[in-house]
Amino acid sequence: MGKGQSKALDLDQAIAQAEELFWKQALVMCQNQTVGAVAAIQNHSPGDFHGDLNYGEVFIRDNVPVMVYLMIKGKTKVVRHFLDISFSLQSTKTPTVGIFPTSFTERDGLVMADYGQRAIGRVASVDASLWIPILAHLYVQKTGDTEWAAQSKIQVGLTQLLTLLLRPRFHHAPTLYVPDAAFMIDRPLDVWGAPLEIQTLLYGALLCCAKLLKIGLAHKGIVNPPVDGNLPRHQIPRDPFTAQQVKHYVGAIACAKDLRRYLLRHYWVNSKSIQVLRQRPNEEYGDRAVNEYNIRTETIPHWLQDWLGTRGGYLLGNIRTGKPDFRFFTLGNCLGALFDVLSYSQQEALFYLIAQNQKDLVAQMPLRICHPPLDDEDWRRDTGYDPKNRPWSYHNGGHWPCLLWFLCVAVLRLPQVYTGVNSEFQEVTRELLESSYKLLLQQLPAQRWAEYFDGPTGLWTGQQTRYYQTWTIVGFLLVHHLLDVDPRAARILDVPSLKELCRPDSV
Ligand code: GLC
Repeated sequence: MGKGQSKALDLDQAIAQAEELFWKQALVMCQNQTVGAVAAIQNHSPGDFHGDLNYGEVFIRDNVPVMVYLMIKGKTKVVRHFLDISFSLQSTKTPTVGIFPTSFTERDGLVMADYGQRAIGRVASVDASLWIPILAHLYVQKTGDTEWAAQSKIQVGLTQLLTLLLRPRFHHAPTLYVPDAAFMIDRPLDVWGAPLEIQTLLYGALLCCAKLLKIGLAHKGIVNPPVDGNLPRHQIPRDPFTAQQVKHYVGAIACAKDLRRYLLRHYWVNSKSIQVLRQRPNEEYGDRAVNEYNIRTETIPHWLQDWLGTRGGYLLGNIRTGKPDFRFFTLGNCLGALFDVLSYSQQEALFYLIAQNQKDLVAQMPLRICHPPLDDEDWRRDTGYDPKNRPWSYHNGGHWPCLLWFLCVAVLRLPQVYTGVNSEFQEVTRELLESSYKLLLQQLPAQRWAEYFDGPTGLWTGQQTRYYQTWTIVGFLLVHHLLDVDPRAARILDVPSLKELCRPDSV
């Protein structure tokens, strides 16, 4: 495979090529064991990695699909090693105590981590810190290895993270406030404040932390601590660390409950809720205000009417006083569905919305990362003239093949979790996933497994794309696995439900 376009391959050849790239070239070792994968395979893109470019490092977010795929393939030891290394790299320095790195790499026997100090704009990846407890839970769920979770190094790591997440703050909302570019969108795109992806990840992370702490407490004989923290007298912990585990367990569940209520109240939109919003009064004072964020009709974009139609719905991008962000963010919405922030009927409305807006979200390459892009003055002001994030490029309306597997998981798990999913819905979503999968197959091997695609239809490879990008390759393998081999694998991403955590007999 040289430079330039390669030939389209048939399915078997494409799978064989993706597997070969993944198993033979993307995986790397750390401390003499396989730990995960680099972001992009270096020797196919000579010149890509000169200077300080970091695509040869192990990114935590890029390794989410890698870890899921490894679990599906039974390689759980690698997942455990990845988690052990990540926990060992949790920051112990003020003011970042408790955060996990964006990426790490081993050089001359030393493991070095980047917490944002080497990234453009010096942004720290908040999503990485939220993914780690989620991956830890998925590992325990898959393997039953509760001994691993109960180790004090893991329990200490989780409580440190929760100390950060549950700390007092300056605003009265359960959301996590972050700077611009703190997640997969890691360049300025006006996604500061309470962007959706961070909030849905926070919800998943809180539930997973609670479940893992529950395991830790059970190992100390505190089985089923009540969610209000009122332990029977003989179980009241004497040592401060156990007391903190209980406190954080209670805090995580309470925060997850509030967060879900809040997201459904302020982020969920459909045709009905928009009409309610348009009728709301403005400029209200006092605690009985119904328009808490003083949102005005003029902020509601015109494209929304057609986009929502009568049965579509989604979680909007961000809530900020007077300035809701109505952009559609694909990953945050998929996570909202698969972590069950959304109810069954809301998930259905979301998938109808995606299906009815395929022209925008899928076009020639599934899936667009966010819609619509920031244009003209908005782009200049809000991105600081960022050339990589020009309209229709990269994060700003670009198309990322690594996102499709999340949609597959979210759609396929729905009828497995809820009974009575109607056949029209099954047909519409099946068609959506199949045609998207076909596009991946036609395009990806021919376009050298590019990282992202540009333009209003996503037909062109991204202007500054890396080739042989790991999450593109493994994302394709996951889509293939979910659609052709075993749709039940969609349950692999299940996080504990609030209901389950609050039930007295679950461990
Ligand atoms: C880019 C992406 C980021 C990803 C990284 C490595 O910076 O924006 O989400 O983690 O590349 O692939």
